[in-house]
Amino acid sequence: MKKILVTGGLGYIGSHTVVALQQAGYEVLIIDDCSNADKDFLDRITSITSIRPQYFSIDLKDQLKTNQFFENNPVDGVIHFAAYKAVGESVEKPLMYYRNNLMGLINLLEAMNENKVDHVIFSSSCTVYGQADQMPIDEQTPLKKPESPYGKTKQMGEEILEDYASTYQKNVICLRYFNPVGAHPSSKIGELPKGIPNNLVPYVTQTAAGIRECLSVWGDDYPTRDGTAIRDYIDVNDLADAHVKAITRLMEQKNKTNLEFFNLGTGTGSTVLEVVNAFEKANNLSVNYKIQPRRAGDIVEAFADNSFAKKELNWQPTISLEESLRNSWNWEQNLGQEK
Ligand code: WQD
Repeated sequence: MKKILVTGGLGYIGSHTVVALQQAGYEVLIIDDCSNADKDFLDRITSITSIRPQYFSIDLKDQLKTNQFFENNPVDGVIHFAAYKAVGESVEKPLMYYRNNLMGLINLLEAMNENKVDHVIFSSSCTVYGQADQMPIDEQTPLKKPESPYGKTKQMGEEILEDYASTYQKNVICLRYFNPVGAHPSSKIGELPKGIPNNLVPYVTQTAAGIRECLSVWGDDYPTRDGTAIRDYIDVNDLADAHVKAITRLMEQKNKTNLEFFNLGTGTGSTVLEVVNAFEKANNLSVNYKIQPRRAGDIVEAFADNSFAKKELNWQPTISLEESLRNSWNWEQNLGQEK
């Protein structure tokens, strides 16, 4: 049974990926410092798969502990999620983001190299494209200067991995997610933002649950079909499946080069108001919202050309936006019942 380390495995996309890996027959080890995750996700994962992953409370900024993990735990590959990801917070605290996201990555890669771990999947983001000049966005779309320090850490992370792959002959896949949404159909795991949600869908579900008074729709004066900004909302379970397919590609040495990039989106763009309306329709309720001025740093439009991932990873998004939004609402309600 191949052993895979998932860093940030108690987080949103990380936990869904751990479940999918276990269900695909992998043995999973988790490193998470719980700075932006809840340790009870270990129980939640176990309640879905009946397999308790080995968990290590390690901050990847601690080089000694990171090295010791690899010396004591031989693994076949790594999926690296552990990073800070709040765009707004990164603007306020850039050095905290550079230290955490880049030093964490460098310590991880050094420890992998010291211990002959040759395969890594990197959690990247469509943010590296900035506001692309044309849609849909494919992997050859030129990268632009990201709007935030968060986005810059993703772009710098890819640069670091390019040199890592070539200098040390490692196998690297960078997965560029568009907008992750949804929750596990069991409602046992989902997105659990700390404090006020930055992202659209958790803010919608918390407004519907009465936790938030009113959703602010940031800008309705964009050059789009209804004036609100367009994004590609990809279900977290489909994202998890893509990670299983990507690590399996490396385990079976089917990668064509030792550095590959894949855009993970549905290929369809949705406006903010279309998401709100889809949520209301899917869950038969109404969401209180108010149009507000644009949010600084937002781009107008982004949606993926996912044909390369479809072809090379044999991957296909299967969950519709409505189903994602039903799962998100069920997760939010389950959270409320647990309190
Ligand atoms: C989506 C749209 C907002 C909140 C995210 C992640 C980033 C990356 C890409 C993975 C925008 C609008 C939002 C609200 C709103 N993912 N909105 N009211 O900014 O596209 O970036 O996906 O790496 O890490 O942050 O996502 O959900 O914040 O915004 O109107 O309360 O919804 O203006 O148009 P974004 P988002």
